[in-house]
Amino acid sequence: MDVIDFDLSAAEFWALPMAEREEAFRKLRALDRPAFFEEMEISFAPRGPGYHALVRHADILEASRRPDLFCSGDGGATNIPDMPAEFTEYFGSMINMDDPRHARLRRIVSRAFTPRMIKRFEADVDAAAARIVDELIAKGPGCDFVTEVAARLPLKIICDMMGIPEEHYRYVFDRSNIILGGFDPEYTDLDNVAANLLNAGLELQQLVQDLAAHRAEHPGDDLITALTTANLDGEQLTLQELGSFFILLVVAGNETTRNAISHGLLLLTRNPGQRALLLDDLEGRLPGAVEEIVRLAAPVNFMRRKVTRDCEMNGNPYRAGEKVVLFYWAANRDEAVFADPHRFDITRSPNPHVGFGGPGPHFCLGAHLARREITVMFRELLTRLPGIESGRPDRLHSSFINGIKHMECAF
Ligand code: HEM
Repeated sequence: MDVIDFDLSAAEFWALPMAEREEAFRKLRALDRPAFFEEMEISFAPRGPGYHALVRHADILEASRRPDLFCSGDGGATNIPDMPAEFTEYFGSMINMDDPRHARLRRIVSRAFTPRMIKRFEADVDAAAARIVDELIAKGPGCDFVTEVAARLPLKIICDMMGIPEEHYRYVFDRSNIILGGFDPEYTDLDNVAANLLNAGLELQQLVQDLAAHRAEHPGDDLITALTTANLDGEQLTLQELGSFFILLVVAGNETTRNAISHGLLLLTRNPGQRALLLDDLEGRLPGAVEEIVRLAAPVNFMRRKVTRDCEMNGNPYRAGEKVVLFYWAANRDEAVFADPHRFDITRSPNPHVGFGGPGPHFCLGAHLARREITVMFRELLTRLPGIESGRPDRLHSSFINGIKHMECAF
């Protein structure tokens, strides 16, 4: 395969067999400087000027650390083409902003993620995981692990945190699937991708605004109450900020952790030696297993940055206005940092993966919660069903999310 003869931003590339993707990124990492790619044509945004593909661990660390040179705000971090203006109302939250606006929002919402809040959710995570496994055992083998197990825990926890009643779970789930469903025909009408996205954003925004109006009259012990009353130096979230932050949280909270849990079962199924090692000392080895799952799963394939001024990074020049794409999936397999990088090794230490992003202002706000959810889910599963195995994964057609839509399980 010629090294530049594929398109990293196309879902088709990510649908290739694992060995081909690994080999493509190995060749890219071996180049003297990051390869430059043309941008794909998409129906609802003008074709952009192309991007440099950052595939080495060192480049991703440095670009993440230097938001003054590599910014998230100018056109967005969650997409390669610049986000069209009409999208920013719903999808323009802090992940797609720079300081000082980003810092202001992150300060307000971090206050709502107080240790007391997180502690309360830890007990909920334990109880929810136990119930999910009870129900899995009652249903019996052969059911869809993604919808019956992996997706349910993060959905319940993020909805509980927000104070969203159970009858809305499905509504939230379907809309977050559309938003991060990429170009997968199971979730979106391929002739109307932009309209579907905007509509899903509008519906989630309406839901949170209705809940916020209710909470104003009946304050509760939930994140929406905390967000609408959080007051930092006289500042509060506007209704629009609340809406787009809510969309970011439900999407980021759902579509990532569920894929980590599904990939985790797949990795344990394909590596029985590692499962045996884990079962030998579940409590001692779970933390390492969770990090290794996030490293290899890399549920978020990439984030984008834009170069703010001419500069040099790790010996390579970049010009103001150019785009760089941080391929976490590739950096997590960088042979310069990870020995035998394609091997699933739950005892890997240290394990400085960038699955939750690189060090910098945008490092994943939910990393602590996600780790907790993955840990508790596997503790519950492997204690009660130590032999549980996955079938073949039905993968999401997306370049952004390394998703598994469906996967049978046996036990
Ligand atoms: C395994 C699960 C998860 C993975 C792999 C993941 C990955 C990421 C990545 C790669 C970033 C972007 C970093 C950047 O642009 O530099 C991010 C940011 C973010 N994540 Fe996560 N995430 C996960 C779970 C969660 C959960 C459970 C939540 C919410 C409860 C969450 C909320 C966020 C938020 C709000 C941001 C934006 C932070 C900012 O811009 O300051 N994530 N995450």
